[in-house]
Amino acid sequence: MNTEHSFTLIDDSNGSTYKLPMLSGTVGPDVLDIQTLYKQTGMFAYDPGFTSTASCTSTITYIDGEAGVLLYRGYPIEQLAEQCTFLEVCYLLLNGELPPKAELEKFVDKITHHTLLHDQLTDFFNGFRRDAHPMAIMVGVVGALSAFYHDALDISSKEHRDLCAIRILAKIPTIVAMSHKYTVGLPFMYPQNKLTYVENFLHMMLGNPCEEYIPNPVLVRALDRILILHADHEQNASTSTVRLAGSSGANPYACLTSGIACLWGAAHGGANEAVLNMLLKIGDVSNIDHYIKKAKDKNDPFRLMGFGHRVYKNYDPRAKLMRATCHEVLTELDLHDDPIFKLALELERIALEDDYFIEKKLYPNVDFYSGIVLKALGIPSNMFTAMFAMGRSVGWIAHWDEMISDPKQKIGRPRQLYAGATRRDVPSITDRGDVSA
Ligand code: SDX
Repeated sequence: MNTEHSFTLIDDSNGSTYKLPMLSGTVGPDVLDIQTLYKQTGMFAYDPGFTSTASCTSTITYIDGEAGVLLYRGYPIEQLAEQCTFLEVCYLLLNGELPPKAELEKFVDKITHHTLLHDQLTDFFNGFRRDAHPMAIMVGVVGALSAFYHDALDISSKEHRDLCAIRILAKIPTIVAMSHKYTVGLPFMYPQNKLTYVENFLHMMLGNPCEEYIPNPVLVRALDRILILHADHEQNASTSTVRLAGSSGANPYACLTSGIACLWGAAHGGANEAVLNMLLKIGDVSNIDHYIKKAKDKNDPFRLMGFGHRVYKNYDPRAKLMRATCHEVLTELDLHDDPIFKLALELERIALEDDYFIEKKLYPNVDFYSGIVLKALGIPSNMFTAMFAMGRSVGWIAHWDEMISDPKQKIGRPRQLYAGATRRDVPSITDRGDVSA
């Protein structure tokens, strides 16, 4: 990154000037390097929600929000979704290049042979009520992984970090499927090594011990593509959470758990479940105008779930691919008259013609269609965010690995603008008067 270009900050009150270098990446906005700002000025930069802040240098994923572009290691998401499998994309995100055939076969073989959980881990499920949200179970059981695998937790070792990645990619689908089976009171299904990654997941998720599960190749391909679309997305909230947790040197399985916890929020990965609930609540195209009005009303907390994005101020490229996948799956299942899909298409059409959404550049995001296609695949809505976590786990690991292997890496420790009480003495209990009403 070149630094010959700099900016000068001028204090208007006394004319003092401060130089701040500008850094350029390979593509996208340049950054103003403010690492010396506090040292030079005694002031912090202020950016709640990090709307204008680059938290790190990364080579993994690039997003152009204005143009609706998403690249994983430079490759357009549209090409990856069309031409690659999810495990190929996992290899790409973790290693920086797409794997030659022999490398891919080795990678797939490693993952296939790490899908089993330590049998004691199954005991953790029994501590949950059957009506626990599967994401609560995911947080608990993935967190429990940090109590195992002490054979490879030296995070300064690339070999150990690679083994962590394999273990997480291999075991998350098993845990996701078990989280579902536990909440519906059905027996856990063991992984089957003869199946592919997604076939195996669907077998564990939707199969049962009483009959052989025959995966539908169209649905398998659709779910594989859905996982690709969710694999990574730059410094989103959950990835930033994993980076911050990892910056202290914490156990990688525990760091991943922090990402799962953050993803659960309805403003983030919880939106796919919220979209389907919203569509069911709207119920009929005749109610769309009423809900569009609610979404536009500042005094109404209702938002159009699956719409809007911090970065995309154009159509989320993943939403386009998700809509196409949705259509493909519904056609395969002879559900193309699915009233919910038709309602979603009409809601999208109306919203995209509405001045409020046009002016605020609110477009459908990755979550708008994903719930409809997951429901058609037989995935219950309370599992949608767990599915998002299954896709995003590789992005979390890739960013964690990139951060830990950065020799300049240091613990993340933001500061604040303090607006609380200045120094005062503690009054005795008798001098505290009545609590103000
Ligand atoms: C994901 O960061 C990522 O990359 C995330 C993600 C990933 O892959 O990791 O892409 C996955 O989280 C997708 C987003 C899923 N969330 C939703 O669909 C929930 C609904 N969307 C909103 O909550 C919202 O759009 C956010 C949270 C996604 C983005 O919020 P921002 O960037 O903080 O924008 P904002 O809330 O400041 O909104 C800007 C304006 C506001 O109006 P004003 O205050 O300017 O008058 O747009 C309005 C908002 O009220 N607005 C909406 C809206 N989203 C924003 N109004 C109605 N419906 C909406 N959905």
